[in-house]
Amino acid sequence: MCGIVGIVGKENATDILVQGLEKLEYRGYDSAGIFVTGVNEQDHLVKSLGRIADLRARIGQEVQGTVGIGHTRWATHGKPSERNAHPHTAGDHQFILVHNGVIENFEEIKQEFLQGEQLAGETDTEIVVHLIAHFSKEAPNTKEAFKKALAVIKGSYAFALINKNDPETIYVAKNKSPLLIGLGEEFNVICSDAMAMLSQTNRFVEIADGELVTVKADKIEIEDETGTIVCRDSYEAQLDLSDIEKGTYPYYMLKEIDDQPAVMRRIILEYTDQVGRTTIDQTIIEKITESDRVYVVACGTSYHAGWVGKTIIEKVAGIPVEVHLSSEFSYNMPLLSDNPFFIFLSQSGETADSRQVLVQINDLGFPSLTLTNVPGSTLSREAMYTLLLHAGPEIAVASTKAYTAQIAVLAVLAKAIGDKKASPVSKAFDVAHELSVIASVMETIIDDKITISQLVEDYLAVTRNAFYIGRGTDYYVSMEAALKLKEISYIQAEGFAAGELKHGTIALIEEGTPVFGVITDEKTAAHTRGNLKEVESRGAHNFVISLASLAKETDQVILPDVHPLLTSLVSIVPTQLIAYFATLQRGYDVDKPRNLAKSVTVE
Ligand code: F6R
Repeated sequence: MCGIVGIVGKENATDILVQGLEKLEYRGYDSAGIFVTGVNEQDHLVKSLGRIADLRARIGQEVQGTVGIGHTRWATHGKPSERNAHPHTAGDHQFILVHNGVIENFEEIKQEFLQGEQLAGETDTEIVVHLIAHFSKEAPNTKEAFKKALAVIKGSYAFALINKNDPETIYVAKNKSPLLIGLGEEFNVICSDAMAMLSQTNRFVEIADGELVTVKADKIEIEDETGTIVCRDSYEAQLDLSDIEKGTYPYYMLKEIDDQPAVMRRIILEYTDQVGRTTIDQTIIEKITESDRVYVVACGTSYHAGWVGKTIIEKVAGIPVEVHLSSEFSYNMPLLSDNPFFIFLSQSGETADSRQVLVQINDLGFPSLTLTNVPGSTLSREAMYTLLLHAGPEIAVASTKAYTAQIAVLAVLAKAIGDKKASPVSKAFDVAHELSVIASVMETIIDDKITISQLVEDYLAVTRNAFYIGRGTDYYVSMEAALKLKEISYIQAEGFAAGELKHGTIALIEEGTPVFGVITDEKTAAHTRGNLKEVESRGAHNFVISLASLAKETDQVILPDVHPLLTSLVSIVPTQLIAYFATLQRGYDVDKPRNLAKSVTVE
């Protein structure tokens, strides 16, 4: 989703801003822009629809400045266009603003304060910069005008504002949307994601909701809502620039699929000791053990991981688990048990739908744990406890290693709770050993990706739609496999409970429709094979992914056996590769699918 970068310094900032925007490309965007000033009293506003490469092509030698802000926009209010791209300006181009988030009362603001004002586009952001210009007529300085505007605005935002008559300062403020200050020698930067500015600094300062920060080259000043100056320590980002480069890989997604065995091994190291005991903080485990029901709340791929996690936790730890979509939960809260415990699954830790639920849960006083890949992310800071996924940065929009990391961490968590409750299933579940087996099996599948690439040509070269089917955990994997396929290859794909197809959806099966069956559970294998026969006799082109002990010679992908509770960690890998190769073969950008954003910071 939208990204923000900014810098106040002494050197030319143009390239730093554009490079920062390039680092944010993975989040998804449709237009971009920069504003720079501070050299020879010249200022430059450059915007472009499309990729950062298009923006770069428009930036001439003369576009120089020591102070600047940049933005990648993922359209919400107003279609993707150059007019709607940020930065936006007002007050005869005196005020320049970039914004992430959504202003809920922009129509009311327009009616009340900006009647007759000429607007260039349709964005909510443009209303805000005009509002600041409006208040600047009576306010003593930019900061006070900005404060007056912030007092009127309702919604989520991260703002960066420049007054070009005072070109040595960037003013920033946030509410619900992420924004960080990065500290440098004779410069300071701002960014919505530390990755954008890692090439400049790895020391960052967090900003809390409601604070306003004045950023200059040699100092920053944080003010809270009451106007009190806040002192806050900086922290070192635990990120390495090499973690966010794709090296020799053609796409981040392939690199991230290949990373999965290493991620499994890292999770073993992080969360178990040398004799295989779990090392998760016991206060978390006690809190969960005290609860009568666990509610897993998540979106998209993380939601699918939640379903697999439910099975593992229920079987190993014996606690009932419900899995909910964040976007539904917040408006339609189910009847809760007396003593609930909430687990938020979120790769980014910034998903607005999930955060909305966390705010409600915190208001109700219920305990919560966030499993996230991003330390210091909003969901991590606002939940009672955090467990990190340790998957390393996930850049490709299509989530792969975060999904398997979520399941692996949930498995360790289930083991820790089960051990605490002296569950016999848990006693027999050597999670560290089983995850190390998983890592080796993942490697075997990944090493043979050429076979999958060839099969994909046979099955998916021309089709418009496809189905994944399975039962139990294989159904949950099917949902995730279908999401992966549709989000990057644009093949209309559905993940179905194998037994449910005949209750309606089987009507869509026609000659040649690819149907992928996932078979890793001996209790359901025969039934799923029966369902595959049903679709085959109606013309389906069947593709079977099965465990060796359940396989038939004709199955297309046969996976080495693993622990029955962890089969999803291996059956998902060929489906990730299927999505990857189908997308490559169709000539689409694997890492940047249309319309999608990596971190979905609007509800
Ligand atoms: C799909 C994908 C999304 C995310 C969803 C939640 O590949 O990545 O479905 O899983 O937007 O994001 P997080 O996990 O960051 O909360």
